[in-house]
Amino acid sequence: MISDLDQFCAQYGCTPSLRIEAPGRVNLIGEHIDYIGGCVMPVAIEPKITLLVAPESNGGKIELWSAEQEDTKYKISPKDFTPKTIPEEHWLNYAIGVMGAYAEQGVMTPGCRVGIFSTLPAGAGLSSSAALETAFALLIEELSGQSCSILERALRCQRAEHEWVGVPCGIMDQLSVGAGLKNHALLIDCQEQSIKPVRLPKELNLVVADSGVKHALADGEYRERRQACEAALEILHENSWRNISLESVLKNQDALGDRLFKRARHAVTEMQRVNEFSDALINNQIPKMAQLMQDSHNSLRDDFEVSCPELDVLVDAGFAFGVEKGHAGSRMTGAGFGGSTIHLVHESIASSFIEHLRSRYQKAFGRELNCFITQASDGARLQPLNTLKPAL
Ligand code: GLA
Repeated sequence: MISDLDQFCAQYGCTPSLRIEAPGRVNLIGEHIDYIGGCVMPVAIEPKITLLVAPESNGGKIELWSAEQEDTKYKISPKDFTPKTIPEEHWLNYAIGVMGAYAEQGVMTPGCRVGIFSTLPAGAGLSSSAALETAFALLIEELSGQSCSILERALRCQRAEHEWVGVPCGIMDQLSVGAGLKNHALLIDCQEQSIKPVRLPKELNLVVADSGVKHALADGEYRERRQACEAALEILHENSWRNISLESVLKNQDALGDRLFKRARHAVTEMQRVNEFSDALINNQIPKMAQLMQDSHNSLRDDFEVSCPELDVLVDAGFAFGVEKGHAGSRMTGAGFGGSTIHLVHESIASSFIEHLRSRYQKAFGRELNCFITQASDGARLQPLNTLKPAL
């Protein structure tokens, strides 16, 4: 297999001097509550987006090439930074969006050549978009010499996604990609915008199953969930979901109507589950963690209505394996509408657990399941300059 470095050299005829890596993420619990100021518990994972970069004056142009779409090379200059020049969730829009969001802050992207490589499947609910955005943010900061905090970077990337891609996402993905920590989950308070790492038990593995059902977030379903939460908040006469109890949602069931009642019930119960899950994780209470993940999935399936049959089969298969045999929890992860499930399992049974999921999936849908073990990893990083030598 040709290395990414050699591919870059073959493509551009020059040597990169900078490597940037940005991981994907899974979310253990706290789904669809980042954009309403809840707490969430994501983990940065090993699959990642890598950028190789050769700074070149290049007449001020930024050349972009993605190894995933080999024949296309794009040349961008600041006049192209206006939102939405190319269809919505195209990878180029994420890159241009981040350049545009930095330009708004007076930070221009210097001329360069960029190669994009990925071990992170797109549309699998594993935050390939936030990884791409964060990698470009680091590139711009490094080449312009104007760095900013992890939070400020995440906010600029979120702005890029809102304005250039058209997805009104929360801040969870950009913060987890930026702040990931090896062996840790992150307890992110999206209202305070604060992050507390929580150590994961050493003996637990993360198993990710990609349902293969691609989800597009710009298509309106995600926006509908966000708007439903805003509408419900208004009916409940509150200005923060953090002040709303389950009792108050139940009391206002008629005023909310069926759809908003269900969305609101997910919002408040999921917030409560994150608190309980982080306590259970700190105290190593595996059965409790498993129960909370199951409740979270059920709530996403029945009340928030963002699951799909493939995700439900994978989660049911996870629980059918048995907590007594080393299974420690399963749920859909990310926005839903397809994408992936996350499973916590004891390391000693991880391989047999994967076999079990594969066979259940094959039986239900007649297709192979893409499933892998991963570990909690560090957030986005730059590799020091001058260490890259092509093997050619
Ligand atoms: C997507 C968004 C996040 C979050 C999740 C659902 O990944 O980018 O901000 O809302 O969906 O929890």
